[in-house]
Amino acid sequence: MFQKTRYQLLLSYLSVFAALLGIFALAVRVVFTTNLSQKFTESLTILGESAAAEAELDNGHLKVDNDFPINELIIRHQALQWFDPQGHPVGQQGQYTLTLPLSLNTDVQTEQTGKFSIRGVTLPVINNDDGSLIGYVRVSQSLEEFHETLAQLDWGLGSGVMITLALSSLGGLWLTRKAMQPIEQSFQRLKQFTGDASHELRSPLMAITTNVEVALEYPEGMRSTDAKKFNAIANAADQMTRLTEDLLLLARNDQVQSPLQETVNLQEILHKLVELYQPQVDAKEINLRIKSTKPLYVLGDAVQLTRVFANLMQNALQYTPTGGLVEIQTNQVDWQLYVSVKDTGIGMTPEQLQHVFDRFWRADQARSYQSKGFGLGLAIAQSLVQNHGGLLTVTSQLGVGSCFTVRLPAP
Ligand SMILES: Nc1ncnc2c1ncn2[C@@H]1O[C@H](COP(=O)(O)OP(=O)(O)OP(=O)(O)O)[C@@H](O)[C@H]1O
Ligand SMILES: [Mg+2]
Repeated sequence: MFQKTRYQLLLSYLSVFAALLGIFALAVRVVFTTNLSQKFTESLTILGESAAAEAELDNGHLKVDNDFPINELIIRHQALQWFDPQGHPVGQQGQYTLTLPLSLNTDVQTEQTGKFSIRGVTLPVINNDDGSLIGYVRVSQSLEEFHETLAQLDWGLGSGVMITLALSSLGGLWLTRKAMQPIEQSFQRLKQFTGDASHELRSPLMAITTNVEVALEYPEGMRSTDAKKFNAIANAADQMTRLTEDLLLLARNDQVQSPLQETVNLQEILHKLVELYQPQVDAKEINLRIKSTKPLYVLGDAVQLTRVFANLMQNALQYTPTGGLVEIQTNQVDWQLYVSVKDTGIGMTPEQLQHVFDRFWRADQARSYQSKGFGLGLAIAQSLVQNHGGLLTVTSQLGVGSCFTVRLPAP
């Protein structure tokens, strides 16, 4: 039970942490990319400015300067393209040129060529003497290196996030264990207390019950009102005995112990219970059907299993109005046995269904329908079924009916 809570806690802790790490990594990447891209464009602009400053005129036209250190351009995957004032190309240096026509509106152009894209920056070339426009120079560079740097960054961030998450799950495992320890301990103490208290209550209750019984054996000696009072005491003592027995059963069953391992015939148990509840069935004119043809055997404790089905049948009979239908069905699928108890009773809302196995929980409509009951029956049934390695499930619809299903492993 605590194991599940622990993993849920760990999972929520890790998801919060992963979300934070993700946001952090994303922010780093965005800032880094913007910065790198800016630097890239700046360096192209600087190169373009120096090329434009050194541009020479030949007869009023741009002369492509062959003195420019071409090798360096090639090494750095760069290129220069020269254009006349009308935007017509007049020459180029280096390989990594853009094939796009010169665009005078935007000074930065990017083009996808093959695997990598190329970015170009266009600058005007001005005559130093009279300040007139003599053409344009477009400096371009392959973005290969840029993308490589980004890929490295992604790798670093990704593996960093993964390693941090792995380490923090280890830490989280340790932390949640530490955090659950005191809760587990106090839960253990509470269980111990419930067990001890109900155990201690047994003998005084027994004393009251026997004394009342003795007193009621000779009603001649008492006034008529006294007999009534003694009866009330007997009833109260009876209820309290039932409650303490239930609590004791629950507290004991919590201390995981494997039940008896005898071969139990479920079909026989069900038929005996049907017989036992026949008076109640007749009084409420309920149509009780049992659809179980072949014997079903499980390994377990007959007393505990009888208790499970008794609780389910009692509920079905209690929470079904006069003239209703209660159907018990058994089934075997592979290595699983299914026994379902279905009624056409008052039913429950989806919200109520979540609490149905809680100790001391009773639905409001159940209280007004049937005033007796502690709300422990299903908690006990569930605990006993789980003790047998099985599962107790329920489906229900308010005002329509409920169906409780016990699943047990076949031997
Ligand atoms: N077949 C059913 N149809 C409708 N509601 C049900 C049915 N079975 C259980 N419930 C609801 O679940 C609640 C808990 O059932 P549970 O058997 O644990 O307690 P109880 O019957 O109220 O008391 P007791 O401890 O005597 O069994 C009931 O009070 C009722 O509200
Ligand atoms: Mg009940």
